[in-house]
Amino acid sequence: MATGERGESGRAAAPPKIAVIDLHKSFAGREVLRGVNLEVEAGESLVIVGGSGAGKSVLIKHLIGLITPERGHVIIDGEDLTNCEPARCLAIRRKFGMSFQEGALFDSMTVFENIAFPLRRHTRMDEAAIAARVQECLALVHLDGTGGKATSELSGGMRRRVGFARAISLQPEILLFDEPDTGLDPITSAVIDAVIVEMRKQLDVTMVTITHNMQSAFRIADRIAMLRNGQITAIARPDVFRSLADPYIQKFLAGEPLEEEVA
Ligand SMILES: Nc1ncnc2c1ncn2[C@@H]1O[C@H](COP(=O)(O)OP(=O)(O)OP(=O)(O)O)[C@@H](O)[C@H]1O
Ligand SMILES: [Mg+2]
Repeated sequence: MATGERGESGRAAAPPKIAVIDLHKSFAGREVLRGVNLEVEAGESLVIVGGSGAGKSVLIKHLIGLITPERGHVIIDGEDLTNCEPARCLAIRRKFGMSFQEGALFDSMTVFENIAFPLRRHTRMDEAAIAARVQECLALVHLDGTGGKATSELSGGMRRRVGFARAISLQPEILLFDEPDTGLDPITSAVIDAVIVEMRKQLDVTMVTITHNMQSAFRIADRIAMLRNGQITAIARPDVFRSLADPYIQKFLAGEPLEEEVA
């Protein structure tokens, strides 16, 4: 339902937290996004799946304004991130916490300093308040007591969780996860998904997660969207998504090799 329309009850439908409208982006003449349309409801956990190179990371980076589209809009809480004053853009970007595909921890810093970094940079909290907030974030990802560790001492799954703790430190309204379980074994991957589900319960957030891993998608999604050929070709609740007739989606679900996308 479009923003501003009224539902059967006659009440105005809640506006989407995120609305992506006709988003286009090319690199070196290759069109990666070819008119993406997508709405994410407040409080929803949306998972975006798609083949490697489909443009998932490019799409999620548009949501937070790290990439500017050639055409189209990203609307956050009714404000157009693709067309706003720099100060407003900054304020909108502060609504986000992001865990990047590459992990992106500062390896010269301890776990504590990694999580404290955004707090020192963007708030005027004193040391005691920073320490308390870092402990809270570590507890949320079940890493109590690890603040003094060097990031090089951590396992892959622990590094991901430190990344999550850093992403939530400024109490974002929207959390973006790009491939949170890439490179992890299935058991660690399930632990990471459980942490994501728990964060969702504990924090009042909207989540967008990208993954290749359908098991993971089914564990954490309210809805699953397929990005293919530069567009969202399907979006549905997990139980409905599982039974979609689209042969590409059925191959994807079965983990079968996918044909090369036509550029
Ligand atoms: N900054 C950039 N400059 C040039 N090309 C880019 C840039 N960022 C992404 N691309 C290209 O856009 C396409 C989509 O990339 P993207 O990283 O979004 O894929 P993805 O769906 O996230 O894949 P994966 O599942 O492997 O992470 C790729 O062909 C990639 O090479
Ligand atoms: Mg990617």
